[in-house]
Amino acid sequence: MDPEELPFEPYRTKVVERIPNPTREDRERALQRAHFNLFNLRSDEIRVDLLTDSGTGAMSDRQWAALMVGDETYAGSRNFARFEETVRSITGFPHVLPAHQGRAAENLLFSALCRPGDVVPNNMHFDTTQAHVLNQRARPVNLAVPEAYDATSDFPFKGNMDIGALESALSGPDHVPLVMVTITNNTGGGQPVSLANLREVARVTRAHRIPLYLDMCRWAENAFLVREREPGMHERSIAEIGRAFFDLADGATMSAKKDGLVNIGGFVATRDSALAERMKELLILYEGFPTYGGLARRDLEAIAVGLHEAMDLEYLAHRIGQVRFLAERLARHGVPFLRPVGGHGVYLDVHRFLPHLPADDLPGQALAVEIYREGGVRTVEIGAIMFPTTEATAGRMLELVRLAVPRRTYSASQLAYVADVIGRVYARRAAIQGFEMSYRPERLPHFTAHFRPKSGG
Ligand code: F0G
Repeated sequence: MDPEELPFEPYRTKVVERIPNPTREDRERALQRAHFNLFNLRSDEIRVDLLTDSGTGAMSDRQWAALMVGDETYAGSRNFARFEETVRSITGFPHVLPAHQGRAAENLLFSALCRPGDVVPNNMHFDTTQAHVLNQRARPVNLAVPEAYDATSDFPFKGNMDIGALESALSGPDHVPLVMVTITNNTGGGQPVSLANLREVARVTRAHRIPLYLDMCRWAENAFLVREREPGMHERSIAEIGRAFFDLADGATMSAKKDGLVNIGGFVATRDSALAERMKELLILYEGFPTYGGLARRDLEAIAVGLHEAMDLEYLAHRIGQVRFLAERLARHGVPFLRPVGGHGVYLDVHRFLPHLPADDLPGQALAVEIYREGGVRTVEIGAIMFPTTEATAGRMLELVRLAVPRRTYSASQLAYVADVIGRVYARRAAIQGFEMSYRPERLPHFTAHFRPKSGG
């Protein structure tokens, strides 16, 4: 794929949605009202929304058609049978429990497996994954390879687990109820895990008789990057590469809002029948009967279609091509971002973008606010606010602002607009001032915190 080339869209438009065009005054007012937290913005205040790639993509005509065959039977719906069969055939995991989204699946798995004081290793936890481990009073730890923390390294598999660190964690005194590997590593830049690395992880977890789970929400993007970069993988299909990953694991959690190509949904799957029964009880308590799991049955049908569409090579080449196109346009402006470019977004490297702002000035937030102010583009800080220093981060966190590209949603010209907006912010970067938090909630602070400019303006 040549990143300078316009990525060819392998679909045409059937429905359009008008994009708002807030004026500079509208944007200033919106920032004040939102307490400078971009999660508080309203969609009519946003020109291009790169806050997340989760549940914000466009469904296909086939998915919309699938909704029409929704069978809203409480127990035993046909749509569940199709969904279950699809997840089983892709992953090989026999027990499949639907949930309304990824964090609900995490809640089921961690509630069933974790006890207070347990340690849960992951290459890198994402925000809700970490919060759910903590919610069980267990201790999340991040064990990604050292290259993952160097924004300028071109190491091709920055999602990989540090095998030595994993060995030590499993040989120590702490009880480890499971090991998780997140494919791709979202917190570290949408970076892939290699199959060779997962084999090593599985060798270690088996030797210690500890279950291995995948956070598989971006598994098809991971497989695409493995296919490109890992020796011997180039001729294999996404389904085959995915299956090679699943065959090494005991189960997985999934937010279908990513590589399920739907707006809502998820699941947890496992080979362990006793665990599946325990989780089923929790599922009924928190989500709903095991044949719908907090979703409308029609949503399960749309997930079944989406999971197949996400494996299409032409779709993936376009998707990841869009991310690379955006990165290439940013590079023309000299904008620093994490390398190599990952699967679902470009992550700006805040330390190199705003070297004059110390950590106390919340530089990631300052940058996200300026990008919105400049052109109505919404992004998200993935740095010291989303991940304050804890045992999990052990003081090793990148300071990033993520431009997450929703699937099948924006055109190349809209992404070029984003690059130009950020280019203008980069040109005036020396004048950007710091922020402080004026309200800090206890858990998951980035979602609901309030901020104010440090200058008092
Ligand atoms: N795991 C990973 C790696 C994620 O990226 C997310 C969500 C979840 C689990 C939770 O899934 O949102 O369906 O409950 N990530 C979104 C994001 C929100 O913006 O990256 P969920």
